[in-house]
Amino acid sequence: MDLPHLSLHDGTSIPQLGLGTYKVSDQDAQQVVTAALELGYRHIDTAQMYGNEAGVGRALRESGLPREELYVTTKLDNPNHEPSRARRSLEESLTKLGLDRVDLFLIHWPLPSRDDYVAAWRALVSFVEEGLVTSAGVSNFQPDHLDRVVAETGVVPVVNQVEVHPFFTNEAVRAANARHGVVTEAWSPIARGAVSRSEPIVEIADQLRRTPAQVTLRWHLQRGDVIFPKTTRPERMRENAEILDFELTSEQMATLSDLDRGPEGRTGPDPDHFG
Ligand SMILES: NC(=O)c1ccc[n+]([C@@H]2O[C@H](COP(=O)([O-])OP(=O)(O)OC[C@H]3O[C@@H](n4cnc5c(N)ncnc54)[C@H](OP(=O)(O)O)[C@@H]3O)[C@@H](O)[C@H]2O)c1
Repeated sequence: MDLPHLSLHDGTSIPQLGLGTYKVSDQDAQQVVTAALELGYRHIDTAQMYGNEAGVGRALRESGLPREELYVTTKLDNPNHEPSRARRSLEESLTKLGLDRVDLFLIHWPLPSRDDYVAAWRALVSFVEEGLVTSAGVSNFQPDHLDRVVAETGVVPVVNQVEVHPFFTNEAVRAANARHGVVTEAWSPIARGAVSRSEPIVEIADQLRRTPAQVTLRWHLQRGDVIFPKTTRPERMRENAEILDFELTSEQMATLSDLDRGPEGRTGPDPDHFG
């Protein structure tokens, strides 16, 4: 699999396509991640909250792949924003993953009502300085959250991982990310499977002899976002990766973008009111 990479502003790069692991149990994670690595996936997105870092770690270890070929992201869980808890939780994540550093560590949710995401961000910056983490980023940050961490710390996250798919294109956040030089990572890129039931997407897929998931994932690639569709099934892992040998026209791109329903199209919580 010849994975395209995107450059991050800290001088590193990230494979644009990976595997998501939300709702993959710790028990299943080893087998699922092993299958993905065998198919050529090298970027795995997990989180403390998913409870599957140990299973992911077993697959990474047993793959025998050189560490530098792998790109592993995990995320700080909501109860762990306080800096000493953040450190302890990161050490636990590293132990479970069997790594001495993760490639990317994210604040999972800003939880604005708690007003502690700037302190958590300072902690992540210190983890980079210590070499526990190669790159630090955020997730579910709205434009004002992003502006605030940059203004108060002077350090810009490398990515912001937010919900993006044709039914919720999230342009305001993508534009704020772009203004700061932050790469957008699109979570729930196929809207948890709902793109397969969208007539305009099915129509384009039929024309191109592709599947609705492939057309949608290709749309993300051409927009320049990072994606990591989740599946536990090897045949879908293969399908989701076969998106490098075709292109959508600007009209087809616009057809998908026009499916945006604004906040009503969200599949997950609104970060301004979560936590
Ligand atoms: N930062 C955050 O707050 C946040 C929030 C949500 C997700 N994420 C990350 O983003 C990843 C992806 O998002 P997601 O898991 O919510 O949703 P998703 O990747 O958009 O969709 C996953 C769902 O689609 C199905 N699926 C996968 N490939 C398919 C295909 N080719 N055709 C039809 N259906 C297919 C999967 O079922 P099967 O498994 O049965 O194939 C699963 O039910 C997560 O796993 C996680 O790593 C992050």
